[in-house]
Amino acid sequence: MPEEFLVAQDLHKSFSADKAVDGVSFTIHTGEIFGLLGPNGAGKTTTIRMLSTVLEPDRGDATIGGHSIRRDADAARKLIGVCPQELALYQDLSALANMIFFGRMVGLTGKEVRVQAMAHLELVGLTEKAKSKVGKFSGGMKRRINLAIALMGHPELLFLDEPTVGIDPQSRNNIYQTIEDLRDKGITILYTTHYMEEADRLCDRVAIMDGGKIIAMDTPHQLRSRIGSPETVTLEDVFLKLTGRNLRD
Ligand SMILES: Nc1ncnc2c1ncn2[C@@H]1O[C@H](COP(=O)(O)OP(=O)(O)OP(=O)(O)O)[C@@H](O)[C@H]1O
Ligand SMILES: [Mg+2]
Repeated sequence: MPEEFLVAQDLHKSFSADKAVDGVSFTIHTGEIFGLLGPNGAGKTTTIRMLSTVLEPDRGDATIGGHSIRRDADAARKLIGVCPQELALYQDLSALANMIFFGRMVGLTGKEVRVQAMAHLELVGLTEKAKSKVGKFSGGMKRRINLAIALMGHPELLFLDEPTVGIDPQSRNNIYQTIEDLRDKGITILYTTHYMEEADRLCDRVAIMDGGKIIAMDTPHQLRSRIGSPETVTLEDVFLKLTGRNLRD
């Protein structure tokens, strides 16, 4: 059995009367790409925010590299990098200055911060844009630097929250390639998306969320096999079968 890097147990979070996350449990093994899929409002981002220690669960706990996100949040935080769904970039700073700023935020100092900034910009294909202001970037380039920032400090576990939403095919392919490179380096990834075909291509295992709960969890191939021939069935079909609704209703 591969080692368990993240173990989430019975996570709950409500906002006033609404249950955003309603008893979510899953495990991610070291080196695995695990997809959290589901429609708008399913609870994907809320789950990531709890796991990345920025939102306290109402109930439940998780361990990251053996450290509890509740009792040992500092140690857990040191192992993770977060690529948030809402872009948080300084529009008036260059790509390099953004990278250096966020690198210092995760504790990098001296030459190391610049070395990592340039290496990660190269990984996402933005070396030539290092000196350009982020405010002038296309949406796809902003998503790419968002991912590069998450890599500062060489986290062992990455949370990628909809890293390809609304972007051009070139940036989408660059991000796929970067994620595959990161997988080859042994980095563990939690990936959220509502593009099911993307999850099918990238993820070793997926959990389908709806209404704050996980309604199915398996390899994409196994999930497709559950409802028919895995060659013709899509994960969208699986969602429809499980919920009676289309993913984008
Ligand atoms: N800070 C908040 N205050 C109030 N309600 C919230 C807050 N954050 C999330 N919610 C609600 O919790 C539910 C789950 O939201 P969440 O953002 O986790 O979903 P999601 O699966 O990430 O959706 P999306 O695909 O749109 O990003 C939604 O009903 C949302 O409106
Ligand atoms: Mg979200």
